[in-house]
Amino acid sequence: MAEQTNQPPKSGKKATIFAVTSGKGGVGKTSLSVNLACEFSRRGHRTIIVDADLGLANAHILAGIKPTRTLSDYIEGKAELSDIIEQGPCKVKFISGGSGVKEMANLDDNGRARLCVAIDELSPFCDVIILDTGAGVSKGVTDFVSIADHAILVTTSNFAAIADAYGIVKVLVQDGYNRPIHCVVNRVRSPEEAEQVFLKLKGCTERFLGFDLNWLGLLPEDSSVEGAVLKRAPFSEVFPGSVAARYLAKLVSGLERYVGDNKPVPQAAKS
Ligand SMILES: Nc1ncnc2c1ncn2[C@@H]1O[C@H](COP(=O)(O)OP(=O)(O)OP(=O)(O)O)[C@@H](O)[C@H]1O
Ligand SMILES: [Mg+2]
Repeated sequence: MAEQTNQPPKSGKKATIFAVTSGKGGVGKTSLSVNLACEFSRRGHRTIIVDADLGLANAHILAGIKPTRTLSDYIEGKAELSDIIEQGPCKVKFISGGSGVKEMANLDDNGRARLCVAIDELSPFCDVIILDTGAGVSKGVTDFVSIADHAILVTTSNFAAIADAYGIVKVLVQDGYNRPIHCVVNRVRSPEEAEQVFLKLKGCTERFLGFDLNWLGLLPEDSSVEGAVLKRAPFSEVFPGSVAARYLAKLVSGLERYVGDNKPVPQAAKS
């Protein structure tokens, strides 16, 4: 069901945009994005999730909705932005990036710039915007991270995932990104495992890029996450008592302080 952004704009205040990214694919970005959005919404923040994994969007599956329109309709001029906003779980508003749409996957700079402007136009109507990006370090990923106030970097303890997480930070920093990047280590078996991964990554970004990564937290390996995918619903909604849901709440508590303040202090330029 398409829904209008009929809520009044907040006076001069803009939403805080969080972009969830990773470098490596399959590390849990979408699952985290959908559940972060739900948790923000449950806490009373008006939240929109934008599936920015253009052409291979699948957040709607994890959110349990069937979008009738997507960003593809917006880009083709078939729909206004307000027409492609769907009602998601936990009162989250949802915008899909289109699945199996070659034109969206191959969108040019101009098309992505239009989308970035459109996302910014959502800002006065909500408190939080979550952008679920695709994998990789292409412009199709970094353009979306570059409009965010905060990036959330997801990795697992897999060596390739850590290397790719470093890779996306490197590309972002080289492109001039200077806002906070908060690290989430997913699918860990212990807090110590997460801490080791984070310290390794942080050490590399500090040493080689002069960039200071923030610790946000961890999500444990939890069968509830996969179980929720099978139910086509966010794990924090169908398994609210799960360990993953408990850790998710901690992540949102860590991010809530930035909501309402979309001007993070930029890091000093690398000398
Ligand atoms: N903490 C977790 N415990 C168990 N399974 C998990 C956890 N996090 C993610 N998964 C599983 O990992 C798989 C990949 O998750 P997801 O689709 O969110 O990754 P992604 O980074 O968005 O992938 P892509 O790069 O393809 O977009 C899913 O099957 C998901 O259920
Ligand atoms: Mg994904």
